[in-house]
Amino acid sequence: MSIISKDIQKAIQLLTNEELVAIPTETVYGLAGNIFSEKAIKSIFSTKKRPFFNPLIVHIPSTDSLENIVTHIPEKAKLLAAAFWPGSMTLVLKKSKNIPDIITAGKDTVAVRVPNHPLTLELLRQLPFPLAAPSANPFGSISPTKPAHVENYFKNEIKMVLDGGFCANGIESTIIGFKNDEPIIYRLGALALEDIEAVVGNVSLINKKEVKPDAPGMLARHYAPKTTTFLVDDVTAEIKKHSGKKIGVLIFKDSLKDTAVKEIILSKNNSMQEAASNLYDAMHTLDSESLDVIIAERFPNNGLGKSINDRLQRATFK
Ligand code: TXA
Ligand code: MG
Repeated sequence: MSIISKDIQKAIQLLTNEELVAIPTETVYGLAGNIFSEKAIKSIFSTKKRPFFNPLIVHIPSTDSLENIVTHIPEKAKLLAAAFWPGSMTLVLKKSKNIPDIITAGKDTVAVRVPNHPLTLELLRQLPFPLAAPSANPFGSISPTKPAHVENYFKNEIKMVLDGGFCANGIESTIIGFKNDEPIIYRLGALALEDIEAVVGNVSLINKKEVKPDAPGMLARHYAPKTTTFLVDDVTAEIKKHSGKKIGVLIFKDSLKDTAVKEIILSKNNSMQEAASNLYDAMHTLDSESLDVIIAERFPNNGLGKSINDRLQRATFK
C-alpha cells in the first residue's frame, strides 16, 4: 500500500506519537518530527543517514512563534521576516534554551522558517510543537519535489508522506545568518539574492574558504545524481566529447533538436522560476534512465539562475 496520503489528522496522530511524516513545503519535501522528541529527532538523522554535526531547520506556523525559539532578533531579521514569511527563507538566529542541542548540533544558533504551503501551515497550526524538517532525501542525494520521490527513497522507513502535490519553488530555502546583526547568505536558494537586497541592502555571501561550513548545504558535493554530471556553457560542444555514450541533457529553454540524446527542457517559457521548480524532478528522471553522463546547461548568473547554478555545480562533484 502507498504511504502517500492527504489525511492531515493521520499526520497529526503520527507526529504526536513521535513518528516521522514527510511534509510538503513550497521548496522541497521535508522529513518532519517533533522538535521536543529525542526519539523522533534521532530517527530523522538515522533515516537520512545524516551526520549529527549537521543541524536541522525548525518549522513554525507564523512569525509570532519566533520569540519561543530565539533570544535575539536583529532589526534586519524583522524586516526580512515581515517581507518573506511565510516563504522560502530560513533565518539563523541565537537559540533559546528550550531548543534541544540535538536540533542545532550543539551550536548556539537555530535555523528557523515559516514555510508557505497551505497543508503544512494547517498542520503546524494544529500541532502544539514545531517541526524539525530537513529535506526528505538520503544525505547528499537529490531533494524530493513530489510525493513519489519521497516514497521511492523511504517507503520502508516511514509511514506517511503528506501529499501536497508538486513543490512550486522546487529548490531549498535561502539561508541567512547574522554577524553583528548584519545578514550573511549561508546558502543560496529559492528566494533570489536581489529580492533580499531590495529589503535590507547589500548582503555578503559566506566565505566558502572558511572550511568548516556553517551550513553543510554548502558542502561541495550535495544534491547530486548518481550519474556523472557536467555543468557547461556550451552543451553541444560537450556532447561531442562524449560520443558513443548514452547522454542526458538538462537545458534551460531551447531544444537542441538532437534525437541522439535524452533531453529535458526546464522552462520552455524562459522562466527561471519554472526552471527551478522542475530542476530536481528532471534530475530524478535522468538519473533513473541508466545514462552514462548528464550534461547540464549553465543558467544566466542572476536572480534564481544563481541558485540553480549553485545546485548544478554541487551535482557535478564526485
Ligand atoms: O527549503 C528548505 O530549507 C527545506 C524545507 C524542508 O524546509 N529544508 C532543508 O533542510 O533544506 P536541510 O536540512 O536539507 O538543509 C538545512 C541546512 C543544512 O545545510 C544545515 O547545515 C543548515 O541548514 N543549518 C541548520 N541549522 C543551522 C545553524 N544553526 N547554523 C548554520 N546552518 C544551519
Ligand atoms: Mg538537504
